[in-house]
Amino acid sequence: MNKPILLYPNTILRDVSAPVPTDPDYLLGPEFRSLVTDLFETMYQGGGVGLAAIQIGVPLRVFVMDKTGAQAKAPQVFINPEIVELIDESVEMDEGCLSFPGVLEKVKRHTEVIVKSVNPQDGETKTWQLTALEAQIAQHEIEHLDGDLFLNPTSVVARDILKRKIQKYVRLRARYEANKR
Ligand code: NI
Repeated sequence: MNKPILLYPNTILRDVSAPVPTDPDYLLGPEFRSLVTDLFETMYQGGGVGLAAIQIGVPLRVFVMDKTGAQAKAPQVFINPEIVELIDESVEMDEGCLSFPGVLEKVKRHTEVIVKSVNPQDGETKTWQLTALEAQIAQHEIEHLDGDLFLNPTSVVARDILKRKIQKYVRLRARYEANKR
């Protein structure tokens, strides 16, 4: 089901998520499976390429990604993910976040990372070598699990500007959606 996405500056986005229980009964059970389905549906609906559970208010260490976005051709689930190694130099990339709609910023990211995460089928740990966009998404989403955000203005003024920018975008999009009907 498509869920509402928590938007900056919602303080829940600052929470550190708890590990997902890794016994196969839980991973293959209805509760966790519907969480994963919700994450994919919400991500595709929002036009994103990655979404962490905390962004729909569930404080568990899981995120979904699909570098093809709404085409839904490469769905991947990462459970209790950890970055094992950051390879290559970091480069500035354009980055957005479904919790910051309408905002795009340059962020320094490594172009290749090794990530280990739990396989949902059997609860075993699997290692992934991710490059380019997938490496960027993994770095961004793993930060969400620790309550870190890709933009973190420290001054009150900058925070206010960012908040207003998001609110304005959300209003404009709602108006656009209403006109389409
Ligand atoms: Ni994000």
